[in-house]
Amino acid sequence: MTATSTISKTALITGASSGIGKALAYQCAQDGYNLVLAARSVDKMQTLADTLKNQFAINVTVIGSDLETSDGATRLHADIKAHGITLSALINNAGYGAFGEFKDSALAFELAMMQLNMNTIVVLTKLFMPDLLATRGKILNVASTAAFQPGPYMAVYYATKAFVLSFSEAIASELEDTGVTVTALCPGPTASGFQDKADLGNSALVKGKKLPSSEDVAAPGYRAMQRGQRVYIPGFVNWAMAQSMRITPRNLATKVVKHLTRATA
Ligand SMILES: NC(=O)c1ccc[n+]([C@@H]2O[C@H](COP(=O)([O-])OP(=O)(O)OC[C@H]3O[C@@H](n4cnc5c(N)ncnc54)[C@H](OP(=O)(O)O)[C@@H]3O)[C@@H](O)[C@H]2O)c1
Repeated sequence: MTATSTISKTALITGASSGIGKALAYQCAQDGYNLVLAARSVDKMQTLADTLKNQFAINVTVIGSDLETSDGATRLHADIKAHGITLSALINNAGYGAFGEFKDSALAFELAMMQLNMNTIVVLTKLFMPDLLATRGKILNVASTAAFQPGPYMAVYYATKAFVLSFSEAIASELEDTGVTVTALCPGPTASGFQDKADLGNSALVKGKKLPSSEDVAAPGYRAMQRGQRVYIPGFVNWAMAQSMRITPRNLATKVVKHLTRATA
């Protein structure tokens, strides 16, 4: 699974089997990072690994991980250490959402989402902190424009992304004299596997809309990580919306999102 290379920097990307994570893998690979790819779909990641190894002459290690289980992140850390790998970049990207009213949604699904979208990020960041301090490394946490206001019809998902943004900005501040940088990447709706998984097909948020590609988001997101920018929102409209939400009364912001996210016929 691992090819020979003299390059020494290594990035872990969670959720690298599709969408934004896969696109981030290309960005890292073309910049000379060796990679650890983690998600559940081992076949998809192995195909990606073979392509990246051939195209960029890097080492790629594929680790099948279910990161919504209570010990998934701890096991992934142990597996990476068993390979003798030290990380210089940690990209916490794996995540998903769910569309629908909270009163009707499945609790087990939401608890698993919270485990993946929040707990896994905290555990991986904690366990790889010694690596990142030693390498003056980089952390990229994939949050969302959902982080900036409450999200009726995706209530738990929006709350998880608010957590990711708050956590990222706080530890970025704590780490500012260590050489370790933390970037929260906050995309708006992006074409990926996300919409199907979240059952968003009927939501006004995406229905009939042409969405930016995962590559459109990953490329500037990767550059933001490289320059150590704390919060990066791809796309002017997304950026403007996020800024306006900071000064809009909370109740009004919530109404706007409710309207934008509603189910359409
Ligand atoms: N697309 C959007 O509109 C959008 C907007 C803002 C933020 N985001 C965020 O962007 C990130 C990436 O999502 P995406 O849009 O690229 O969606 P995606 O194409 O569905 O990719 C999600 C990735 O997460 C992985 N994943 C899901 N459950 C997992 C689990 N239990 N254990 C390990 N990995 C798991 C998936 O791999 P496996 O299924 O193989 O495990 C996949 O690689 C997420 O954090 C999402 O919240 C997306």
